[in-house]
Amino acid sequence: MDYEFVKVAVADGIAVLTINRPDKLNALNHQVLRDLVAAFDAVRADDAARVLVITGAGDRAFVAGADISEFKPLSAMEAWRYTQDLHRIFRRLEEMPKPVIAAVNGFALGGGCELMMACDFAYASDKARIGQPEVLLGIIPGAGGTQRLQRLVGKARAKEINFTGDHLPAEEAFRVGLVNKVVPHEKLMDEVMAVARKLAERSAATLAIIKAAMDAGANADLETAKAIEQQCWGLAFATEDRHEGVAAFLEKRKPVFRGR
Ligand code: COA
Repeated sequence: MDYEFVKVAVADGIAVLTINRPDKLNALNHQVLRDLVAAFDAVRADDAARVLVITGAGDRAFVAGADISEFKPLSAMEAWRYTQDLHRIFRRLEEMPKPVIAAVNGFALGGGCELMMACDFAYASDKARIGQPEVLLGIIPGAGGTQRLQRLVGKARAKEINFTGDHLPAEEAFRVGLVNKVVPHEKLMDEVMAVARKLAERSAATLAIIKAAMDAGANADLETAKAIEQQCWGLAFATEDRHEGVAAFLEKRKPVFRGR
């Protein structure tokens, strides 16, 4: 599946989506965003894609942000509509009923950091630089940077990141919990594919239920969240894979999950 600025390759249960605009450090212009919507929908519908990996083309950037050259003519109403569209697109990603891993191979700034945060988790190259530099342009983050970021790293750290606009080195991003792992640049895809392969072996049905339980619970009070877990626990017992998983354990063999 290839689009103008997005490439998607599916093999062995893993879809690798590459944002392919390296001459502009993979900045998200309107066409990239349109391509992402189409690619997200295609991956969502493709049962052969049980895990999604998102990365950036070239050696320098994951995504260096929304395309700043498109900001100049925007009226306030157009800017409002633009941020609503961004939120809708990233929500589409967040609600993908399969694991989504960001392979952060360089700059993840502004919309790039926000895209990363809409994934389930991220591994970063030791060359990655991550931040929300919108303040330096006299604007503010508009795709989750003022909200997802503080839920991920805490309010005070998120404020420091948003107020300064500094680019955090990968190790610092790891220390504050923005990325799960930092690996040598040339090993990034190997490490990401290793964890993706592990997830591709799990039951796609179980992973979807775990993800739905966690994401719905994250936005609820604890009592509601616990009730969501109880309902999802029940739902997991409706899958064929739970029979296979339990039987395989009792028969001391490896389970073969079918995602049903
Ligand atoms: N939007 C549009 N174009 C962008 C871009 C963005 N967010 N980020 C980088 N580019 C373009 C540059 O304009 C340049 O294009 P050109 O070669 O046609 O002039 C190309 O990508 C390479 O970037 P350049 O700035 O020359 O590389 P650098 O190594 O000097 O700096 C960055 C790299 C990431 C520090 C710098 O590009 C930058 O600050 N980008 C903007 C980051 C940002 O503010 N993101 C949030 C946007 S809301």
